[in-house]
Amino acid sequence: MTRPHLFQPLTLRGLTLDNRAVVAPMCQYSAVDGIAQDWHLQHYGSLAASGPGMIVIEATGVSPEGRISPHCLGLHDDATEAAFARLVPALQSFGDSAIAVQLGHAGRKGGAAPPWLGGKPAKDGWQTLSASDIPFDSDWPAPRAATADDITRLKQCFVDAAKRALRIGFDAIELHSAHGYLLHQFLSPLSNRRTDGYGGPLDNRMRFPLEVVEAMRAVWPADKPLGIRISATDWVEGGWNPDEAVIYAKAFKAAGIDYVCVSSGGLVPYAKVPIAPGYQIDLARRIRDEAQIPTRAVGLIVAAAQAEAALADGAADMIAIGRGFLDNPRWVWHAAEELGAEISYPPQFMAARGKIWPGAALARPRN
Ligand SMILES: Cc1cc2nc3c(=O)[nH]c(=O)nc-3n(C[C@H](O)[C@H](O)[C@H](O)COP(=O)(O)O)c2cc1C
Repeated sequence: MTRPHLFQPLTLRGLTLDNRAVVAPMCQYSAVDGIAQDWHLQHYGSLAASGPGMIVIEATGVSPEGRISPHCLGLHDDATEAAFARLVPALQSFGDSAIAVQLGHAGRKGGAAPPWLGGKPAKDGWQTLSASDIPFDSDWPAPRAATADDITRLKQCFVDAAKRALRIGFDAIELHSAHGYLLHQFLSPLSNRRTDGYGGPLDNRMRFPLEVVEAMRAVWPADKPLGIRISATDWVEGGWNPDEAVIYAKAFKAAGIDYVCVSSGGLVPYAKVPIAPGYQIDLARRIRDEAQIPTRAVGLIVAAAQAEAALADGAADMIAIGRGFLDNPRWVWHAAEELGAEISYPPQFMAARGKIWPGAALARPRN
């Protein structure tokens, strides 16, 4: 019997993933001054012992003011690097999952409170910066429009973070260009009203993200994948759209990007997002078909059969799952069982899989 698509390996440069199930990046809002804590070890540790092909560690600021919230992770100084340098080898020792970090800058959406405290600008936030001085919403402070010096400094922040990621031993970097954060703020005509070489026509709006990619690729080794997460549409008339996203993906491919995770929205609060099971899969398919680059589909893909179908009919090469993994860190085990794939388990957990202890299968909740 052929192995299900979800459990076929995938090679990206010198990295081979055991399977195509990826833990989507998900902010934990549990860092202190950008530094990873015990929470991160237990959360990512549990996932790393549970067999996803790749775990993408949450949005991590390339500078302190690039963090989404004051409680988000950073990778911008020796202290933040040192915490990752303890965390990442531990995760790599728990299983075979590749460990990636999502590097980004929140721009005008930085300094927000965690969602469970309302998600609005936090009291301990900061002066934000963006492509233009347009606030995210009427009750958000106006960002400062980045100067030419800011742009040079920001690129250097991405490069320095990539160098730190290399020293730490991350298997891959994923650049955050989605959900209305800084790179997306440059891309979308709704947030970018610049009149210099970084605003106006699409080529100009893409310039800053592309310069970031080129600079990062120059310091990130040729055998390690550099992926990107994009919003393929703002879901707003006159905003960033799938046609532009295809052009962007092609430009990224030429600049050395290895995969595109296709998400959507996040740029403006008034977008009407048609949320439904698998609602972004067709956007991933379009990028994959037209830009000829490996894609990762994401967004309300919950069931193993749904993930398998998206891979089988060529919409994507990987599937990212967010809330499904929060709900059930062992999602991969159950998907393997459902799709009939043999996988390996950490010996410490084999008793739960009927491998060693008689009657284990009967002891499982779903029986
Ligand atoms: C708690 C939480 C935190 C998130 N943080 C991030 C993040 O750091 N970076 C990102 O690109 N997306 C983030 N997302 C979006 C997820 O990666 C994912 O795209 C989204 O949840 C849809 O997938 P799902 O339906 O499988 O949950 C977050 C989502 C959740 C639920």
